[in-house]
Amino acid sequence: MKLGVVILAAGQGKRMCSRLPKVLHPLAGRPLLAHVLDCAHSIGAERVCVVYGHGGDVVPQALGDYDCRWVEQAEQHGTGHAVMEAMPEMRDMDRVLILYGDVPLTRAATLQRLVDASADAALGLLTVIVEDPTGYGRIVRDASGRVLRIVEQQDATEVELEINEVNTGFIVADRARLDDWLSRIGNQNANGEYYLTDVLAFAASDGVEIATIRSETREEVCGVNDRVQLAALERYYQRRQAEDLMRGGVTLVDPERLDIRGRLRAARDVYIDVNVVIEGEVRLGEGVSIGPNCLLRDCEIGADTRILANCVIENSSIGSGARLGPFSRLRPEVVIADGAHVGNFVELKKSQVGLGSKVNHLTYVGDTQIGSGVNVGAGTITCNYDGANKHRTVIGDGAFIGSNVSLVAPVEIGENATIGAGSVISRGAPAGKLTVTRARQLTLDGWKRPRKK
Ligand code: UD1
Ligand code: CA
Repeated sequence: MKLGVVILAAGQGKRMCSRLPKVLHPLAGRPLLAHVLDCAHSIGAERVCVVYGHGGDVVPQALGDYDCRWVEQAEQHGTGHAVMEAMPEMRDMDRVLILYGDVPLTRAATLQRLVDASADAALGLLTVIVEDPTGYGRIVRDASGRVLRIVEQQDATEVELEINEVNTGFIVADRARLDDWLSRIGNQNANGEYYLTDVLAFAASDGVEIATIRSETREEVCGVNDRVQLAALERYYQRRQAEDLMRGGVTLVDPERLDIRGRLRAARDVYIDVNVVIEGEVRLGEGVSIGPNCLLRDCEIGADTRILANCVIENSSIGSGARLGPFSRLRPEVVIADGAHVGNFVELKKSQVGLGSKVNHLTYVGDTQIGSGVNVGAGTITCNYDGANKHRTVIGDGAFIGSNVSLVAPVEIGENATIGAGSVISRGAPAGKLTVTRARQLTLDGWKRPRKK
């Protein structure tokens, strides 16, 4: 059984009031359409086809990495028309599942349930019960509960408007039957559009069994029409992730004030304070604590390390029992070993900090390898850039760099070397000795301060 998925994403999304096509607006940091594509792939679709239109090639360009086919629907004449455009791509499929590009939070399990429940039926339909059915297509059933048709808001009678079982838009159909039903759809309705939902009436009148299942939550079949709905779904999604974390042994000081835009894998007894943003892939070891207002992107943090307030950590890895912050910034490719300390207003880039080393105050370290047991004094700068090229600094184990030192790269500081405060080191410093470039201090006897005449 080959399952094809068609994702409808050609609509304009007028109510977003945006230059960006609606399906590219992000939810949890990824375009709405990316969520739908992931879901389609996770249920083992043989082929996925996206119908795009409004915004032109911007949509396929933005999601070019996905394994799917793109079909342009240049003019949008309704959901039925959109599916018709995609059907040539489904020719060798046995069944076709239709999803919407602006309904991002559908769970794979729900779609799987729909596909399974309709395995022996030519048509399966996902419905949902809502308190306020305004705007949705209503599911019209006969006395025995069989689906007769779907009626759109604009075409519904007073009685039909009262129905609160509505169409999610998700259907799965036998491919050959669907081709036939689509060829029979007309546009004689209030909107002058080709409604995909007319397929239901054809199926019913053909005497075909229509399997229906209901979605358990409304949010997972909820579409985004404006930014208010987008924000509501974002909150729902974040809350769900926060709950999963808490159930897995993570303390969230306020589950409403954590945002995960990517994936967070956290071991037991991780503690996360308020206003933390997680992006990309982040792993936190057991007992890690993250202070307030931190941004962590694509990083790994070892057990019992403490990240204090206001740190920004990007594409870096930190060992266990380390301490960072407050106000540390780790730019990409930083590796901090176990037990190291990085303090306030310290910026690191493409550098390693060895076991137990300390870089505690007001420092820039770039393209540098710092050994173990090193102490880098306040205000130290690695001068890694000569205006054209970047150069490396190497600091040996046990070295002590005094405050306000400039290390002019390429430069090497030997093991256990000591660099006097205020030095500008451009030729390297030997192991085990004190090197200082500071001018000697003078005191002039008999000197008099000038006086105003
Ligand atoms: C549709 C359903 C309605 C259902 C509701 C659920 C029809 C006729 N109505 O109504 O029964 O309750 O969804 O949200 O199907 N699209 C295209 N090309 C088009 C038209 C639409 O790709 O020519 C896409 C849109 O981008 C959107 C989806 O199809 O992702 C649904 O279209 P929309 O206009 O929002 O349908 P509704 O009126 O909400
Ligand atoms: Ca809609």
